[in-house]
Amino acid sequence: MLSWAVRLEGRALWTENADIGVAVYGENLRKFGGTEYRRWDPSRSKLGAGIMRTKRDKSLLLPEEGSTVLYLGAGHGTSISHLHDHLCGANNDLGGRLIAVDLAPRCLRDLTHLAKTRPGLVPVLGDARKHSAWGVLLPRKVDWLFQDVAQSGQVEIFIDACQRFLNKGGTGLLSLKAASERWTGEGEETLFAKVAQKLNNNGFDVEESIKLTGYEDNHVLFVTRRVE
Ligand SMILES: C[S@@+](CC[C@H](N)C(=O)[O-])C[C@H]1O[C@@H](n2cnc3c(N)ncnc32)[C@H](O)[C@@H]1O
Repeated sequence: MLSWAVRLEGRALWTENADIGVAVYGENLRKFGGTEYRRWDPSRSKLGAGIMRTKRDKSLLLPEEGSTVLYLGAGHGTSISHLHDHLCGANNDLGGRLIAVDLAPRCLRDLTHLAKTRPGLVPVLGDARKHSAWGVLLPRKVDWLFQDVAQSGQVEIFIDACQRFLNKGGTGLLSLKAASERWTGEGEETLFAKVAQKLNNNGFDVEESIKLTGYEDNHVLFVTRRVE
């Protein structure tokens, strides 16, 4: 077990379903010891891919259960649903809070639908760059922040968001899509090294850079700790 709700069986990742009988994106459901789990498809989720590929303890990528976290670029809720299983559990018995921000109304429709049966999930139609519009939802800083916006300027967006919302010592996860960065002709390796350097220069320890190749080509998940 990676957490009370997340388990690895062979090469398959599963989370205990907080909404019994319901699959979110067509994933398999099955029981382990009488309890229903959903299969977490790492090729549909950068967080899932990061967990499969990390060379460290896999549980280091997960937030503390029952805590409040911020997720920027929530999409249609694939990763969000598994994160919610872990953070909140059924009926939000754990008292978690998952603030899920996305710019696209179509994503918000799906997230809002998901939130009806998943208390603790808070969908927000908003721009990750414009904190003043939705920052009131987070009166206190969080210990875990995930960003997957796949747009240019994603590193600056991440640094700004962490400075405003992530506690010192907190974990910030940045999913970086190489193709979304302004291309200066350099190779991908150079680009990833420059991003790591920039994170270092802005008060983050980069604990691991996880290549997601095979699940999501041309993506790296930076696992950082905010130190300043
Ligand atoms: C790759 S998808 C996210 C997939 C999702 N993280 C998952 O694993 O299920 C990127 C998302 O970022 C959103 N996005 C792009 N720019 C954004 C911004 N400035 N603020 C908020 N969301 C943004 C897009 O609408 C899109 O849904």
